[in-house]
Amino acid sequence: MVKINMTVDGERHEDDVEPRLLLVHYLRERVGKVGTPVGCDTSNCGACTVQLDGQTVKSCSVLAVQADGAEVTTIEGLANGEWHQVQTSFKECHALQCGYCTPGMIMASIDLLKENANPSEQEIRDGLEGNLCRCTGYQNIVKAVQHAAAAGGAR
Ligand code: FES
Ligand code: FES
Repeated sequence: MVKINMTVDGERHEDDVEPRLLLVHYLRERVGKVGTPVGCDTSNCGACTVQLDGQTVKSCSVLAVQADGAEVTTIEGLANGEWHQVQTSFKECHALQCGYCTPGMIMASIDLLKENANPSEQEIRDGLEGNLCRCTGYQNIVKAVQHAAAAGGAR
């Protein structure tokens, strides 16, 4: 076992973990952040996307020990009294169906808007290509990112 320290959504956590434990499983099973789902476990779908020290990562492709000392933000840590603009835009634009891909889509969209505050439709599609929606709700997801960009984008 290896001791790790991590700040998750503003709270410090110290735990002993197996070196092979994936970050997504640590977040869900040890920290209780079940808002971050596992879609594939093979880094294909993007459902497990979180921010690690401000960088978007697929948390099924990172070991918990690699996040030792890091600051992690999950979908559950986004709202700060009120929803993040991208969360609001997903709701306004009906950009979710079953919702399974939604946490990852929102985290990836925020990253996209940080890089490019006013992306074209193609840039949004390119920026979210690592995130899959099995309900194929891409049209409204793109609209939601455009809506968020028009409203001020990522904060
Ligand atoms: S669960 Fe991580 S990319 Fe699918
Ligand atoms: S809303 Fe169902 S997978 Fe995207």
